[in-house]
Amino acid sequence: MISKNNLPKIALGAWAWGNDGTFGNEHNIEDLRPIFDKAMELGLNLWDTAFVYGMGTSEEVLGEFLKTCPREDYIVSTKFTPQCADPSAENAVTAMYENSAETLGVEDIDIFWIHNPVGAPDWTKKLVETAKEHDIGMIGVSNHDLAEIKQANEILKDAGLKLGAVQNHYSLLNRSSEDSGILDYCRENDIIFFSYMVLEQGALSGKYDTKHPFPEGSDRANAYGGSLKEIEELNGALDEIAKAHDAKIAQLPIAWAISKGTLPIIGATKVHHVEDAKDAINIKLSEDEIKTMEELADKANINTIRMWEKEMK
Ligand SMILES: NC(=O)c1ccc[n+]([C@@H]2O[C@H](COP(=O)([O-])OP(=O)(O)OC[C@H]3O[C@@H](n4cnc5c(N)ncnc54)[C@H](OP(=O)(O)O)[C@@H]3O)[C@@H](O)[C@H]2O)c1
Repeated sequence: MISKNNLPKIALGAWAWGNDGTFGNEHNIEDLRPIFDKAMELGLNLWDTAFVYGMGTSEEVLGEFLKTCPREDYIVSTKFTPQCADPSAENAVTAMYENSAETLGVEDIDIFWIHNPVGAPDWTKKLVETAKEHDIGMIGVSNHDLAEIKQANEILKDAGLKLGAVQNHYSLLNRSSEDSGILDYCRENDIIFFSYMVLEQGALSGKYDTKHPFPEGSDRANAYGGSLKEIEELNGALDEIAKAHDAKIAQLPIAWAISKGTLPIIGATKVHHVEDAKDAINIKLSEDEIKTMEELADKANINTIRMWEKEMK
């Protein structure tokens, strides 16, 4: 049984491992293996992926690593993406679930998500059928607004199931899931809120600025490239707070997301990313620091809502 009590404070995301052009850097399995090994050594054993991340590539790589570990040592999270549904399948959710489970080398998936609300609530109803056939550890919905979350919760409840988790974009620069009441709703209904893109795909890591642009031609270069000056200024100000904690800039948004009661999913492409993430768990931000970070982010005024997303309401 998956619950907040047996999950680590941080999940690791394997989207970049899919090499689908979003990030602009190619990663091979030999380079990624030490990241996986280090994370497991540090107790960061919750892995988030999706078939759509490289149309199976991310799941294949993660599956290769997971196969080297005893099943009880890790928790694996993957998603049904409506846009990838097999039109010939009797139940496209079940078909994708079974395909992902096979690729990941598991009997059952620990956390399974409806990736986005396109076609909702019909896919949630299909997922109810999947849950009758398979022992899904926890069911979640992603990129859903408050009304869509409530609707999914009702459908699952009526079927004797529980909505266990919500996964939305939540960062210093995009707090619409908080402003819209989604975080409160999750807290009140015992639903774990997973925040994704806490580091804005590297924009809030301190690595990218006017002199160090994102990889040319990547989706993230298109998304953030026009705001590098604002990003540089924001990271410069965040660095002052980071220094007071003897921390790195990238660790601050992670500590912030945890302090907000969320479970951040951090995309890791270097060994030090998992080490930084693990250490960020111990950074205790004061109320004043949290307020200052949010004011700095508001001042930067960068719109980070991506093409698959919407402003949450
Ligand atoms: N449900 C959804 O629709 C959805 C959408 C987006 C993401 N997600 C999930 O959330 C996960 C995280 O999102 P994301 O990977 O898109 O973005 P992210 O976590 O905001 O950023 C990841 C990038 O930040 C940089 N980074 C990470 N740790 C760092 C550190 N300690 N120091 C310096 N740089 C660091 C790396 O950039 P470099 O590679 O350039 O070093 C890394 O690729 C995904 O992998 C996926 O599992 C879900």
